[in-house]
Amino acid sequence: MKGIILAGGNATRLYPLTATTSKQLLPVYDRQMIFYPLNTLIKAGIKEILVVVAPDHSGQFLNLLGSLFKNYGIRIVFEVQKVPAGLPQAFVLGEKFIDDDSATLILGDNIFEDDFSQDIKEFKSGGKVFATKASDPERSGVVKFDDKGKAIQIVEKPKKWISDFVITGLYVYDNRVIQAAKDLKPSERGEYEIVDLHNFYLEKNELDVKVFDGEWLDAGTFDSLLEAGQVVKDKKLYENFDPIVQEAIAEFNEQLKKISKKMLTK
Ligand code: TTP
Repeated sequence: MKGIILAGGNATRLYPLTATTSKQLLPVYDRQMIFYPLNTLIKAGIKEILVVVAPDHSGQFLNLLGSLFKNYGIRIVFEVQKVPAGLPQAFVLGEKFIDDDSATLILGDNIFEDDFSQDIKEFKSGGKVFATKASDPERSGVVKFDDKGKAIQIVEKPKKWISDFVITGLYVYDNRVIQAAKDLKPSERGEYEIVDLHNFYLEKNELDVKVFDGEWLDAGTFDSLLEAGQVVKDKKLYENFDPIVQEAIAEFNEQLKKISKKMLTK
C-alpha cells in the first residue's frame, strides 16, 4: 500500500493567509495541519508517502518533511502539481510512485478523529471510501444507501437532496485507479472529479462505503480552521498520534531550538 497526500490547491477560501504559505502548513492548534493526514497514513503502516504540492510554497514542505522521517524507515517524496485540476490527478501524477501497488489518498486538509488503520491494512481490492453525516451535504460528494446500508448512488454536489451522507477525504483504491484516473474527462466546471472514480468502482459493485461518526474536520475555511484547532485542543486529538510521528516532530522541534540558541549566542 502506498500513501498520497494532496497538499496542493489554491486555497482561495483562506486568502490572504494562503498568500504567504500553503493551507496544509497552517497551524491546527500546536502543529501544522499536514501532520494529521500524515499521521493517518503512518498509523496504517504505510511507509512510502507521496506529497503532492503546489509550486508556490513547495520549498516549505521540503523544509518540514524532507528529512523528518529519515531515521524511522518512512520515505517521503514530492510531486509538484502545476495546476490544481482535481483530486484524481493524484493518481496520474503518482503513477510511477504507486507502481503495481494499491494507494490510499488523503486530502491534506482533512482531520479524522477515528482510526481507519485496520480498514487500510485489511484492504485487498476494489475501492473503499469513508462517509459521515453532514448538515450541508449539497456542498460535497453525497452517497445514498439502500435499506441494507449498501451504497447505491454517489453524486457530486446534488442539486436535489438525495442523502445526508457525504464522502470524506480518505480514499483507498486498488491499482486500477491509475488507468481509471487517466481515462476521466473533466466535468462542467473543468475539473477532474473524484466522484467519477468512486462511480468507476460502484458500477462494478466493488466500492465499499464505511460510515463513521467521529469528528471529521475539513480545515478549508476560516471558521472550519478555527473549529479544527478548538476540537483538536478540546478532544486532545494531538494525543492520537503514532509514536513515530510524535517522536519525529519532537526531534525536529529540539533541533530547531538548538539552532536558534546557537544563532543567539553567536
Ligand atoms: P479544496 O479544498 O477543494 O480546494 P483548495 O484547497 O484549492 O481550496 P479553495 O476551494 O479554498 O480554493 O481541495 C481539497 C484538498 O485537496 C486540499 O488539501 C487541496 C488539495 N488539492 C490538490 O492538491 N490538488 C487539486 O487539484 C485540488 C482540486 C485539491
